[in-house]
Amino acid sequence: MLDLMTEKVQDESRQGEAYAAFANDPNQYKKRFYIESYGCQMNFADSEVVASILHKEGYGATPNLEEADLVFINTCSIREKAEQTVRKRLTEFRKLKKKKKGMLVGVLGCMAERLKSKFLEEEKLVDIVVGPDAYRSLPGLVEEAEGGQKAVNVLLSRDETYADISPVRLDSNGVSAFVSIMRGCNNMCSFCVVPFTRGRERSRDAASIINECRDLFENGYKEVTLLGQNVDSYYFVDELNDRVVTFAKLMEEVAQISPLLRVRFSTSHPKDITDDVLYTMAKYENICNYIHLPVQSGSSRILQLMNRTYTREWYMAKVDRIRQIIPDCGISSDIITGFCTEEEKDHRDTISIMEYSRYDFSYMFFYSERPGTLAQRRYKDDIPEEVKKRRLQEIVEIQNKLSQESNKKDIGKTFTVLIEGDSKKNDKEWKGRNSQNKVIVFPKENYSLKNGDYVQVKVLDCTQATLLGKIINPEI
Ligand code: SAH
Ligand code: SF4
Ligand code: F3S
Repeated sequence: MLDLMTEKVQDESRQGEAYAAFANDPNQYKKRFYIESYGCQMNFADSEVVASILHKEGYGATPNLEEADLVFINTCSIREKAEQTVRKRLTEFRKLKKKKKGMLVGVLGCMAERLKSKFLEEEKLVDIVVGPDAYRSLPGLVEEAEGGQKAVNVLLSRDETYADISPVRLDSNGVSAFVSIMRGCNNMCSFCVVPFTRGRERSRDAASIINECRDLFENGYKEVTLLGQNVDSYYFVDELNDRVVTFAKLMEEVAQISPLLRVRFSTSHPKDITDDVLYTMAKYENICNYIHLPVQSGSSRILQLMNRTYTREWYMAKVDRIRQIIPDCGISSDIITGFCTEEEKDHRDTISIMEYSRYDFSYMFFYSERPGTLAQRRYKDDIPEEVKKRRLQEIVEIQNKLSQESNKKDIGKTFTVLIEGDSKKNDKEWKGRNSQNKVIVFPKENYSLKNGDYVQVKVLDCTQATLLGKIINPEI
């Protein structure tokens, strides 16, 4: 039950649904591939790079698993449960493969990187294993696998950013797109597997990012989310123009493409987000007033064991600074309960920092020990599962209360909303987001609006997860 709740919280945004890609005319391609993605937005963005690499080689995407010659699963290792989900899905692919001769199954992403060729021993019907930095070698590996060999490339790179590859947008609403600005992570939070699965941090060429964003805008997109595990440490030495591009500078240049292009970013590490970034956000109307600022724990002692490099007080001062420079900024968080040695006192510190920060929403997890991480090597995973889950349940309830309070405060306010599509429940209603990243649902009435339009919406009511509104001015 509890797992379902937390998975659901996560599902609503980052996890997304497993999705497939399709091309306009699949018949023109020599073979068809199907790709399903799990994990963070970086993985979803990577699948679009993979699709682009395969397209160039004459493979067309299909949304139908049954008609695919190549089936890929882009995997996540962040928690044990994420890996279990992938294994379950592989069992289904295995059944299909038995029925369909010649179908190849490829495992991509973080789990491929973590398990490497062990995957081929554990999951006998997997044919291809490719880590996040080796996607350029996919066409060659597919050929090898077609020739009957098992194909593996899990080399991590210090400089691969896929800068020159134009991602093929998969399952897109044509309004918002993710743009990868860096890869890897140098932070070594003790609980986290990402530095091992994604390698060293590197920043992508600034000009290629700006070009990609401009192209998206010219193709009708109205929102880009700049992606990295720690976007605030973006740092690119632009030798051509003899300058250094920081994250604040990059964001400014993307914002200058057009006032009609919304700019978002994810994720910020609290230790790295600078005043410069905050002032740039305040300066540009089209840079959204929303920061995902994962706290992980409210206890300085636990934060130190987690190797987060900030204290409770330091984090709270950062929240104050954000509210000072951007008074109406939305803030969300990631929180882990039951980390090694966590006591009730530490847990209460987490609850109080949530209340202090007044998060609009949070992604909440209980600690899952990951092989090879610093925490696994150094500390005992000593909090019983029922305690982890009870604490998780408590913070989920606190967050529900905070979300409800935050939404109630918005009743009566009017926001500029970017229309993303029909609301899930009712095709007579639009769904969109305000700058603070809150979802707003409102009746279409008789206005002739479409996806990607901006509209002024007044909030009349709310649920815990959604604002409910009415169009005030459709022409902006
Ligand atoms: N780069 C991002 C986070 C990426 S992982 C950042 O630094 O904030 C997304 C979230 O998963 C983390 O913020 C953390 O809350 C959670 N997470 C990571 N490792 C975990 C583990 N071993 N057990 C439980 N949750 C974990
Ligand atoms: Fe993991 Fe920490 Fe890097 Fe985020 S910043 S990806 S939590 S090591
Ligand atoms: Fe998962 Fe890898 Fe992202 S472990 S959260 S897919 S970086």
